[in-house]
Amino acid sequence: MRVVRTVSELRDALRRARREDSTIGFVPTMGALHAGHEALMEQARRECDVVVLSIFVNPTQFNDPTDLERYPRTEEADVAAAERAGVDLVFAPFAQEMYPRGATIEVRLAGPLVDTLEGAHRGSDHFHGVTTVVAKLFNIVQPDVAYFGQKDAQQVLVVTALVRELNFPVRIQAVQTVREPDGLAMSSRNVHVQGRDRERALALKAGLDSAQATYDGGERDADAVIAASVAAMASYEVDPEYLAIVDRVTLEPLRTVEPGALVVVAAPVGPVRLIDNATIH
Ligand code: PAF
Repeated sequence: MRVVRTVSELRDALRRARREDSTIGFVPTMGALHAGHEALMEQARRECDVVVLSIFVNPTQFNDPTDLERYPRTEEADVAAAERAGVDLVFAPFAQEMYPRGATIEVRLAGPLVDTLEGAHRGSDHFHGVTTVVAKLFNIVQPDVAYFGQKDAQQVLVVTALVRELNFPVRIQAVQTVREPDGLAMSSRNVHVQGRDRERALALKAGLDSAQATYDGGERDADAVIAASVAAMASYEVDPEYLAIVDRVTLEPLRTVEPGALVVVAAPVGPVRLIDNATIH
């Protein structure tokens, strides 16, 4: 496995794969790899001839400078994890390689996909940062398939729209959320959730489970299902920033809960903000 820092090194390293028409699988990350990322790398390894992982803490998608500063940076351990997962090439650029002095490009989607939920709470600049860096990474790596975690359900929809609207020849593959044994969704930010907050963090999964249980009990009114979920979270002393039941493609709020509806939740827990989601079945 090789670690490269520049676009030209990456292109050289992929030249042979491209000549031989090998399928290139791509796992974009911001590092601090955990079992969720391992699932992405492993699926890419099973499905593609060549697997590329990127590690880049993208400054343009952070609305909160403290969050950017505090974001865990663990490159040595990440490279070891990538090697174990069978990754062929790690692209770990410095910021000036991705955003050289004077760079002005920004790739923006508009509408509810970027304005609602995470977009409303973090500011739509968050998704503008994501679409800008992902568009650049897709142009740099030119993968056949790119793997994203379903935990960031809205990001999956945003990237799918990006690919559709800019005609990138890339298939977006969402990979199921990986959880700790007690149900907490894996996240790079979990390292900052300690002590009593670690128990409180279970509120998000409890809220999602409650939505399914309320639905299973026969309730179909979205407001009633949401109220039960918010109450379930309150028993962990956690107030959601949002808890919504939405269409899984458009993210429009649903009045009636139906199979396939997406339940999305975000909540501050201790020093961090956590998100999670589940599909009603
Ligand atoms: O999900 C992430 O880690 C980031 O948003 C991504 C897709 C790597 C873009 O910086």
